[in-house]
Amino acid sequence: MARIYAIGGGKGGSGKTFLAANLGALAARQGHNTVLVDLDLGGSNLHSLLGFRQVEKGLNSYLNRTVNDLSEAAVPTEIPNLHIISSMDCSLEIGNLFYAQKMKIINAIRRLPFDIVFIDLGAGSTYNVLDFFLLAHEGIFVFTPEPTSIQNTVQFIKAVYLRRVKQILKQYDFNKVVKELAWETETGVVRSPVDIVDRIMTKDPVRGVLLERELRKLVFKLVLNQHRKHIDVALGHKIEKVCNRHFYAGFQFMGNIAYDERVHNSVLAKTIFANKYPYTPTSTDLKQAADLVMKKHDMAPSPIGKYG
Ligand SMILES: Nc1ncnc2c1ncn2[C@@H]1O[C@H](COP(=O)(O)OP(=O)(O)O)[C@@H](O)[C@H]1O
Ligand SMILES: [Mg+2]
Repeated sequence: MARIYAIGGGKGGSGKTFLAANLGALAARQGHNTVLVDLDLGGSNLHSLLGFRQVEKGLNSYLNRTVNDLSEAAVPTEIPNLHIISSMDCSLEIGNLFYAQKMKIINAIRRLPFDIVFIDLGAGSTYNVLDFFLLAHEGIFVFTPEPTSIQNTVQFIKAVYLRRVKQILKQYDFNKVVKELAWETETGVVRSPVDIVDRIMTKDPVRGVLLERELRKLVFKLVLNQHRKHIDVALGHKIEKVCNRHFYAGFQFMGNIAYDERVHNSVLAKTIFANKYPYTPTSTDLKQAADLVMKKHDMAPSPIGKYG
């Protein structure tokens, strides 16, 4: 089974696609058979960073049954060991997936016969984005040092967390507590996903322990992209600390990725930055983040979320 990483963050333009493409190239360079899955449905552009104008097949080939298995929709890139499953062949309305299609994609990704899968997600906190994020073994949140990016990322983290709490409540049949909580939510007693967990722990300590145990399995990574010299180098660590204090989940900061004007050139040249400019601070940062992300002893035993 592949190790699955999802790259999200709520806000557009933070560098999710840039990071996905570079992490994919660096994983492939380490000899891992790697596939990048573009699930920015309706806004796919990962293929461009990998030098494709068109892709001969992709996610839509699987949805419309041109291919039987999602792995057959993977196209090799020019980089050895690196493949892409693009969504550029999907219709313009693909953003509004049906539940059955979403489940089909989730189950197919879990079966992909690769060593490593990186999922590139779009902006926003729609159920599709949240469920694709939770399908991974590890979720990577990408943000930039601007307050708006940090705010959007925190909102996204809360949305992911709430979605996971709801999955667990459904899975373990917490009906009675949930009904009481629904009333408390309406009346404003419970306001955040963290409040919900705390209230369950008070109301039903046995189930509360179960909920906390499941939430503690969440493995989240944080990456601060487009870091500039004047920005506090410890900002990412501070955010990691706050997240670990607030949520029952494990957050790990993977480091700052320096802003570099030449990223633009690599996009225009349709090449991967870490390959085109290997001896730059940004490429060193990317390599360090890739090494940390793929560190074997960090690997969690099961996917973040569960569906059914
Ligand atoms: N470290 C960086 N330095 C300079 N520009 C960057 C960096 N990371 C991303 N960019 C640029 O920022 C823009 C948004 O990146 P992109 O990966 O498309 O974001 P997202 O996928 O989150 O919407 C792109 O123009 C990209 O080239
Ligand atoms: Mg993108």
